[in-house]
Amino acid sequence: MKDLLTTADLTPADFAELMRLTACYAQDPDHDPIFLHHGLVALHFTKPSTRTRVSTEAAVVRLGGTPITLSAAELQLGRGETIEDTARVLSSYVSALVIRSSSDAELARFAGAATVPVINALTDGHHPLQSLTDLFTLGQLFADLPGRRIAYVGAGNNVAVSLAQAAALSGVDIALATPDAYPPDAGGIRAAEQIAAATGSTVTCTRDPAEAVRGASAVYTDVWLSMGDPPHEAADRRAALAPYRVDSALMDRALPEAVFLHCLPAHRGEEVTADVIDGPRSVVFRQAANREPAAQAVLYALLRRKLQGRG
Ligand code: CP
Ligand code: NVA
Repeated sequence: MKDLLTTADLTPADFAELMRLTACYAQDPDHDPIFLHHGLVALHFTKPSTRTRVSTEAAVVRLGGTPITLSAAELQLGRGETIEDTARVLSSYVSALVIRSSSDAELARFAGAATVPVINALTDGHHPLQSLTDLFTLGQLFADLPGRRIAYVGAGNNVAVSLAQAAALSGVDIALATPDAYPPDAGGIRAAEQIAAATGSTVTCTRDPAEAVRGASAVYTDVWLSMGDPPHEAADRRAALAPYRVDSALMDRALPEAVFLHCLPAHRGEEVTADVIDGPRSVVFRQAANREPAAQAVLYALLRRKLQGRG
């Protein structure tokens, strides 16, 4: 595999290997301090980021490389240079490109032209790095994770799709409760269902939050208005999504040991109440911390053949 554009690009074996590598880097962040041999990794973000950008920069440094972060304003892309020319040129300087973009189609064009790995740092459709972290975090908390059920409650978005695909790859059942007006992308869910059919897990879509969380070991939510959503939808989304707010009453319908997850940033009082996200069942800061070893794992997995002649 050259790139990581969507979680569904991975096989169950790839996913398991990334979980193993993430565990390795979580235990010892300095496990491979010269892996990148002073190589550069370019980060091009067209949307804001706290966790993805900093955890990926930190991961590059931990692996012995140097990150170069390029805003849209700094590149000639904004003046009409093509994505293809940009990707080819950057490939001659750097070992990998990490890109946060609105458009999955643009990301695919980067990947098609780049001769180095391209990693999706979030698009409107997908957030694979987040989903790796999420399943890794759940694996830390539940030794018997495969066969358990997790629930996503809220807006059907990039995080929901990648979570569904990651759960399916891990043999974890997932139920997604979203309102009719804001469902997850049908193609992304179909891909998750196909993976689930192969791993023996299930992907269930419902409009009923109580049904989704019944029997769940984890309840996950995300913002109601994503960075790629039109800001003018905010009021309509707040109205449609109000019944999907994760509060302690909803958490009490899940299993007694259920944890709360959120990719962050969060809006307390919108998609989740403060008592849940700041309460004892919340593992959101453990999740956030796990972004760094997960980023190390992805960089290592995509670059090891080229840099070390390793499988
Ligand atoms: N969860 C996540 O991707 O956060 P950032 O937008 O801060 O990178
Ligand atoms: N769904 C959110 C995730 C942020 C990490 C967004 O795309 O804005």
